Amino acid sequence: MSLDTPQIDLDEVVDNDQAHVWHHLTQHKPYETSKPPVMISGSGMRVKNAEGKEFIDAVSGGVWTVNVGYGQERIANAVRDQLIQMCYFAGSAGNVPAAMCAKKLIDKMPGMSRVYYSNSGSEANEKAYKMVRQLAAIENNGVKHKIIYRDRDYHGTTIGALSSCGHSQRKDQYGPFAPGFVMMPDCLEYRSAYGDIDNYGETAARELEKVILAEGPETVGSVVLEPITAGGGVIPPPEGYWETIQEICKKYNVLIHMDEVVCGLGRTGKWFGYQHYGIKPDFVTMAKGLASGYAAISCTVTTEEIFERFKEDPANPMSHFRDISTFGGCASGPAAALENIRIIEEENLVENAAKMGDYLIGRLHELKDKHEIIGDVRGVGLFVGLELVLDRKTKEPVDESVLAAIASDCMAHGVIIGRTNRSFETFNNTLCLSPALICTQADLDEIVDVLDAAIRRVAAA
Ligand SMILES: Cc1ncc(COP(=O)(O)O)c(C=O)c1O
Repeated sequence: MSLDTPQIDLDEVVDNDQAHVWHHLTQHKPYETSKPPVMISGSGMRVKNAEGKEFIDAVSGGVWTVNVGYGQERIANAVRDQLIQMCYFAGSAGNVPAAMCAKKLIDKMPGMSRVYYSNSGSEANEKAYKMVRQLAAIENNGVKHKIIYRDRDYHGTTIGALSSCGHSQRKDQYGPFAPGFVMMPDCLEYRSAYGDIDNYGETAARELEKVILAEGPETVGSVVLEPITAGGGVIPPPEGYWETIQEICKKYNVLIHMDEVVCGLGRTGKWFGYQHYGIKPDFVTMAKGLASGYAAISCTVTTEEIFERFKEDPANPMSHFRDISTFGGCASGPAAALENIRIIEEENLVENAAKMGDYLIGRLHELKDKHEIIGDVRGVGLFVGLELVLDRKTKEPVDESVLAAIASDCMAHGVIIGRTNRSFETFNNTLCLSPALICTQADLDEIVDVLDAAIRRVAAA
């Protein structure tokens, strides 16, 4: 593993990027007169850009993805070997790594049984939505088709997935959206809508029941939830929340869809986020950390009970799951995922995420004691948010520009951090840290020390 710059003309690369690449989430006007960022190499926790500047990456590829760190030759070799052996065949047939990866995943998810492959988190979620809709169509004339999602949760960028997102600014200007998606309130206790109450978790969960009753229980097929809200501001569930959600779902026969696109594969100190809370899901979707970004792969995992329901009428050509994802048949995806999971197992990275996560959260609480601007520190494992406020009493959020200033100060001092951006009208005020699962205490100290100084500088300006 090395951060050596490859033998290429980087000026030409950057010029081509500036001239022809449309970057994600980016206003390009400033790049008419300055160069856009281009990343060239990565090794372990570190990346290097085209200007030769090195950074420690505290957000695993910007969007909590590179769980095992950069430059893992084992994954590259597994993908290379698989591509030469058998690169692709449509997913109506199996392949060697897809079968082995499915077994590996299922072994880690008691109660789950079937893995459906596609390429992105959005797509994995869409598959689960289609399964819910089709079950409704097969079993009760499509009546039980509605999908409930939660304010501040994010489930993807395609129109169907975006229809199920509680990020008002991410949705703005992209409608009209798909019908049949209904929002319930978030569960951020720091901003409790019920004041300071003892049973906040249960109260917040009861909002699901209110929505189910308002819509009519016979119309609600599933609820899709992040175990810990990610892009919406890193929101771990309050105590008592999941017990109540499960009780309500059971009562009204509503399927539980856990979106593990961020939390899955060890990020929170367990293999999957839902496993912290005793949840028995009907669907689990995963993407990002599944192959740590070494290949584009996502999975929609479900139970044998759901799977069986698509077999009940074999004489009817319309009753099985009639979905395909062309690149869900790329064998490089499961080859990368399988090797990624082996690395996580062999290097005890789930345990490391739990241990280093505790250390990181402890250090961030020290920062909170020093900086009035930090209103709340929250997180689980290596998945942490710092909510910034103008005043701790009123909890008035800082403007998004304050987070931008802190993030760019960190960047100038060699640390890449994340932040909520253009997701909501008011609450783009959470800094995010989600370093790779391989991180050490020394890495975390470096990150926190730079962040500490950046907050001091920006707050003083
Ligand atoms: C929780 C969650 N679900 C789904 C997605 C969508 O994944 P993708 O960008 O791979 O489509 C994301 C992306 O950030 C996410 O955070």
